[in-house]
Amino acid sequence: MSATIIDGKAFAASLRERVGAVAADFARAAGRQAGLTVVLVGEDAASSVYVRSKERASIAANIAGTVHRLPATTTQDELLALVATLNADPAVDGILVQLPLPKQIDSHAIIAAIDPDKDVDGFHPVNAGRLASGLPGFVPCTPLGCLMLLKDRLGSLSGLEAVVVGRSNIVGKPMAQLLLAESCTVTIAHSRTRDLAATVGRSDIVVAAVGVPELVRGAWIKPGATVIDVGINRVTLADGTSKLVGDVAFEEAADVAGAITPVPGGVGPMTIAVLLRNTLVSAYRREGLALDESAL
Ligand code: GUN
Repeated sequence: MSATIIDGKAFAASLRERVGAVAADFARAAGRQAGLTVVLVGEDAASSVYVRSKERASIAANIAGTVHRLPATTTQDELLALVATLNADPAVDGILVQLPLPKQIDSHAIIAAIDPDKDVDGFHPVNAGRLASGLPGFVPCTPLGCLMLLKDRLGSLSGLEAVVVGRSNIVGKPMAQLLLAESCTVTIAHSRTRDLAATVGRSDIVVAAVGVPELVRGAWIKPGATVIDVGINRVTLADGTSKLVGDVAFEEAADVAGAITPVPGGVGPMTIAVLLRNTLVSAYRREGLALDESAL
């Protein structure tokens, strides 16, 4: 293995610490803590774990974390009513409705009902439009975390060839917009891309976010490239045990890449740290207090 391992866990811990210090400054200046409200509908096991982590991380970072836990039978109108209440609550700076939602609820309708200026997930179409137009708004947490890791490793990204493998609204599309805004030459690859190996092979930056275990092979990677693996896939091994793997064949890629994120411990821990950062940014904006957002 020759690649540098990008330690997302350590980077996220230091971001959470910076957010915690600035959140304490905010509380002194505003006379209240920044507030993040998470809404969980139903009892999906993975979602429950994520939500508890978000609640704990908020409190540790001097942000008031509140969770509304609603039954799986909640109707769309009931959830819309809760979102309207949170939109109107001045103590709430960030609203996050945990996805996926039960099938009787249209998640697009719920996301569209969140005040875009409290949409710390960056999922509202207004925030997607702001990102595409270069306007201030909120950027989805996972791709913003990936960008932070890339800039920490590479400094300027200007002129670099970048490929994003995957075109989801939550990761692939916003990731491509962020890289474009950094003046990369960006390709978005997906399941219908004809020659994925060649597309990856000319890229200085590879962001893999397709949800296919070890799709991106080491032999495809340009020597020295920076590889960011967003995938978290549980696979069963021959002996019946299971392990987590990314969308990149890590051992192969680490022999060729200049730097690579591991799974777990790479991109994963960044998501919650950026969520806290977005919540604090929202609080400063909503109170009209000055903050150097680029330093967070
Ligand atoms: N479910 C899994 N990840 C996320 C996330 O980042 N935000 C929301 N709202 N739901 C999720």
